[in-house]
Amino acid sequence: MSAEGEPREELLCLVRSLRERLRIDGELGRPLSYLTREGEVAGAVRGERSTQTAREFPVVKMSGLDAVRELLGDCRRCPLHRTRHSLVFGEGNPEADLVFVGEAPGADEDAQGRPFVGRAGQLLTKIIGAMGLKREEVYICNILKCRPPGNRNPQPDEIAPCEPFLIRQLEAIRPRVICALGTFSAHTLLKSEAPISVLRGRFHSYQGILLMPTYHPAYLLRNPGAKKQVWEDVQMIMQTLRDGT
Ligand code: URA
Repeated sequence: MSAEGEPREELLCLVRSLRERLRIDGELGRPLSYLTREGEVAGAVRGERSTQTAREFPVVKMSGLDAVRELLGDCRRCPLHRTRHSLVFGEGNPEADLVFVGEAPGADEDAQGRPFVGRAGQLLTKIIGAMGLKREEVYICNILKCRPPGNRNPQPDEIAPCEPFLIRQLEAIRPRVICALGTFSAHTLLKSEAPISVLRGRFHSYQGILLMPTYHPAYLLRNPGAKKQVWEDVQMIMQTLRDGT
């Protein structure tokens, strides 16, 4: 694609993503929630509804992660549905203080329908253990819910329709800390294109939630020397969770 075509493609992706968010908000009974006053948005995130919204929009029949999973359904919003074996929604504690967001399912995850169960997943499980936590205590999901063939990088036209569901998952859980695993996760959540080596090592804000980018466990398998930096990053997360800040 030419350099001139890139901003146009980016804009198209943004429009697609926004359209999908509006559609999902509509189905959840809270259209244009981010255009309401701040208190109403916070209430909507907690599943509460203001009198005004309740009068104007239909009653929410389901709440939280189950509602998001229901909306996702047997998703065919991007071409990845043709090659996937299973859709990997995410798993863990729906009230987790800490959410890990990876890139996309790999072959093992696609086969089992669960996130981070292959070699990189086993390393993530060890990292979680070293933090003094169990896998069941945190929530684990990905930017993409379906495996890109051959584990290639996620494409903008795959991220755009999938991102609204991640946004809704994070809204439903409302964790204290998000740990973005790897470049694609950090770039998608932070809307930044800075290298992960620059982004990691400090907290950023995602919708008012602390977000720590760090190296992806698959990168650590290839570059074990980077484990030191990941350990520094997760120690900052642990300290924050301990402090209750
Ligand atoms: N890599 C990811 O980013 N996510 C998974 O679920 C597995 C491997």
